[in-house]
Amino acid sequence: MIEKLPFSMQMIFQLNKIEKACFGKEAWTIANLRGEYENDFSHMFGEKTEDGTVVGYACVRTLYEEAQLCNVAVLPEYRRQGIASRLLETVSEFAKVQGCERCELEVNTANTAAIELYKKCGFEIVGTRPNFYKRTKRYPTRDAYTMVKEF
Ligand SMILES: CC(C)(COP(=O)(O)OP(=O)(O)OC[C@H]1O[C@@H](n2cnc3c(N)ncnc32)[C@H](O)[C@@H]1OP(=O)(O)O)[C@@H](O)C(=O)NCCC(=O)NCCS
Repeated sequence: MIEKLPFSMQMIFQLNKIEKACFGKEAWTIANLRGEYENDFSHMFGEKTEDGTVVGYACVRTLYEEAQLCNVAVLPEYRRQGIASRLLETVSEFAKVQGCERCELEVNTANTAAIELYKKCGFEIVGTRPNFYKRTKRYPTRDAYTMVKEF
């Protein structure tokens, strides 16, 4: 079930575990996650199992007419079950209610799984940002696509 995730240190530890499993060295740290919770524009949503464990989450900032999808990540063993799609649907509905007219995101141009997910959820590529990301071993390129979904 997808829920808005309230702040607690236990929640931060759970999200950090997902971050590490999904992004390795580029994972958001405990401090990054705390910072996100301290940002009034930022909201976390997650998929919980029956025992309350968060197995996937999304972070969205709602900035007046624009929502920015900062992150979406699902634990490897829970992928291809529609969790990220449901998270994006929930985030979009939430952003609309907040008055946003569109949702924007950046994604590495080599992150095929995420690009396909976003396309399936109604996002379109509207531009490319060369060297947007730090150099990592994860992807052969640092370039990002900007993708937008108009509500
Ligand atoms: C990208 C990610 C969030 C997808 O999560 P998920 O819960 O598996 O996604 P869904 O099950 O909702 O998949 C929806 C659609 O996305 C596409 N998709 C998902 N994973 C894919 C893959 N590995 N290869 C190709 N397409 C993929 C498919 O079109 C899929 O629909 P289908 O299963 O009916 O074919 C997950 O792979 C992940 O956490 N990756 C690491 C973190 C990351 O890169 N996040 C994005 C940062 S911008």
